[in-house]
Amino acid sequence: MANKYDEAYQQSINDPNGFWGKAAEDCHWYKKWDKVLDDSNKPFYRWFTGGELNTCYNALDYHIENGRGQQVALIYDSPVTDTVKKYTYTQLRDEVAKFAGVLLDQGVKKGDRVIVYMPMIPEAAIAMLACARIGAVHSVVFGGFAAKELATRINDAKPKVMISASCGIEVKKVIPYKPLLDGAIEMSASKPEKCIIFQRPQAKAALIPGRDIDWNEAMAKAKPADCVKVAATDPLYILYTSGTTGQPKGVVRDNGGHVVALKWTMKAIYDIDAGDVFWAASDVGWVVGHSYIVYAPLFKGATTILFEGKPVGTPDAGVFWRVISQHKVKSMFTAPTAFRAIKRDDPKGEFIKKYDLSNFKILFLAGERSDPDTIQWSERNLNVSVIDHWWQTETGWAICANCMGLHHFPVTYGSPTKAAPGWNVQVLDANCKQVKAGEIGALVVKLPLPPGTLPTLWQNDAGYKKSYLEEFPGYYKTADAGYIDERGYVYVMSRTDDIINVAGHRLSTGAMEEVLSDHPDVAECAVLGVEDQLKGQVPVGFVVLKAGVTRSNEEIIKDVVNMVRDRIGPVAAFKTATVVKRLPKTRSGKILRGTIQKIADNKEYNVPATIDDPSTLGEMEEALIKIGYAKGRK
Ligand code: COA
Ligand code: AMP
Repeated sequence: MANKYDEAYQQSINDPNGFWGKAAEDCHWYKKWDKVLDDSNKPFYRWFTGGELNTCYNALDYHIENGRGQQVALIYDSPVTDTVKKYTYTQLRDEVAKFAGVLLDQGVKKGDRVIVYMPMIPEAAIAMLACARIGAVHSVVFGGFAAKELATRINDAKPKVMISASCGIEVKKVIPYKPLLDGAIEMSASKPEKCIIFQRPQAKAALIPGRDIDWNEAMAKAKPADCVKVAATDPLYILYTSGTTGQPKGVVRDNGGHVVALKWTMKAIYDIDAGDVFWAASDVGWVVGHSYIVYAPLFKGATTILFEGKPVGTPDAGVFWRVISQHKVKSMFTAPTAFRAIKRDDPKGEFIKKYDLSNFKILFLAGERSDPDTIQWSERNLNVSVIDHWWQTETGWAICANCMGLHHFPVTYGSPTKAAPGWNVQVLDANCKQVKAGEIGALVVKLPLPPGTLPTLWQNDAGYKKSYLEEFPGYYKTADAGYIDERGYVYVMSRTDDIINVAGHRLSTGAMEEVLSDHPDVAECAVLGVEDQLKGQVPVGFVVLKAGVTRSNEEIIKDVVNMVRDRIGPVAAFKTATVVKRLPKTRSGKILRGTIQKIADNKEYNVPATIDDPSTLGEMEEALIKIGYAKGRK
């Protein structure tokens, strides 16, 4: 007999209008849609055209009007500042409405862009929701990016206003944000009219008269603003993510499809009902933070946790269990790397025993491949279901998951289980032909993508088509390779482009190569993601120096490491590079990245038939051993 998942999946593929139309009935609309799926301009599909709604209303006001005003909406738990602060739905709505008033006072209108560059403080979520309230388009930039990355985003989004804080706190380090903000604005051609700065006591920022506004002073004067009606197809936010060059892609999310899909996922995938406590231990700068710290739990009427800390060191490897126990978390979501960090510090799970985790039911993992060891350690020590699920910034929610609110399938380690309803996932070969079950190929999704996914890239329809739709006509290219077995379980093996995943953070090695090539002594270079026990992957650089360079290799390595930190940011975790005489290449001059990577990871490899000079592989191996990789791996 078909289970709830099978029924939902079949309907979502055979009758998307019926399936998503029903899900949309669960949301608040000022005006209902004319069409659920609008396919009048293929390959650009739109959802709920003609509909009008407000995302912030659906996240906050709707619940207050339905009796949840006194329920806690958001818990700010910050071990780095020793703070726990709770906001009820009414309190959060009031703060958001007031900050929306601040934005209106600064002339921000529907459709204007607002960049949010903030640490994990409630004001980040308040700023995002306030933008949604007045129809402004937010673009949150992760705090671990450097000024130059921020400048690239300013130039593309052209924000009217920027919102930031005086500092972030990384374990014990206070990181001033204001110099990064000022530096980025200095570098960018487009200048915001105003910057609203939240002053934190750990480091006060000097404000620039005429441009910078103090958050608290502005709030004291502001009048609360009401929700404005926006079209379902109007943009809610832009989130930049690494592409295959130094130019990040501005992933657009619309209002209507986003509310519908995300609210639906809370029960179907995460088994969360209104009133439950859900915790996504991520950062608002990433898509997980947008979808599952801020929006989806609030759409559902659940309680969400905004955690300013790390899995270890704030103060110890027991902090996750303390948060789960103290706030009665039902499900949590994080990246496997966080659990590897905990496992490394507390291999026997001694901290777990100190806390009452009786409310905790499911651990969700995503952001990178979940290694079986981490899943098994978590299952053994936590005695909860551990669910791997696969998604991307572009998709906004899970492509594949064990949909815990529909049907719990047996877990197969190494697989995020099956395609979620709405996702027609297939595996194609280079000729766009479907391969047999079990054969590896390109993981693609037959169009249309479900609601809540990217309709396009910010002001770049051509780039959207080129990056995602052209290689496999009629399909969305995920740029992940993998296979599907006879049971329909999907296996995500590796990226087909230069994206690497470092501690769950998506980075482009191509962007790092662009930085290295800028060094005056570097003739050519390659950056590869090599396996790392904690972070999954870390970037390692190889540089070939120009003839006649007199500075020492050590000095040049130090330079390039600092350059990546300065231009991309500490989040790149680019700490290792080495000088080599030459890079292994094919006869046509292509760098043999795959082979170098296998050598670095100490895996078996074949000498490619197209190699120009096989002796370069031996040289590469020697260089890798010297820096602790290849056969020198610890
Ligand atoms: N602002 C400023 N700097 C930041 C930052 C932020 N928001 N986030 C990270 N950084 C800095 C860190 O301080 C560190 O700097 P350092 O080189 O001076 O030490 C660097 O960026 C790398 O940070 P991180 O990747 O967090 O590594 P880590 O060694 O400090 O911690 C983990 C390792 C595994 C504990 C950590 O990466 C983690 O908690 N990962 C969870 C990942 C996650 O939530 N992913 C989201 C997808 S679900
Ligand atoms: P991001 O856009 O930062 O969410 O990164 C998306 C990429 O992370 C995907 O394209 C995958 O390569 C990888 N990824 C995310 N979740 C998983 C998963 N559960 N299993 C394997 N890879 C994953």
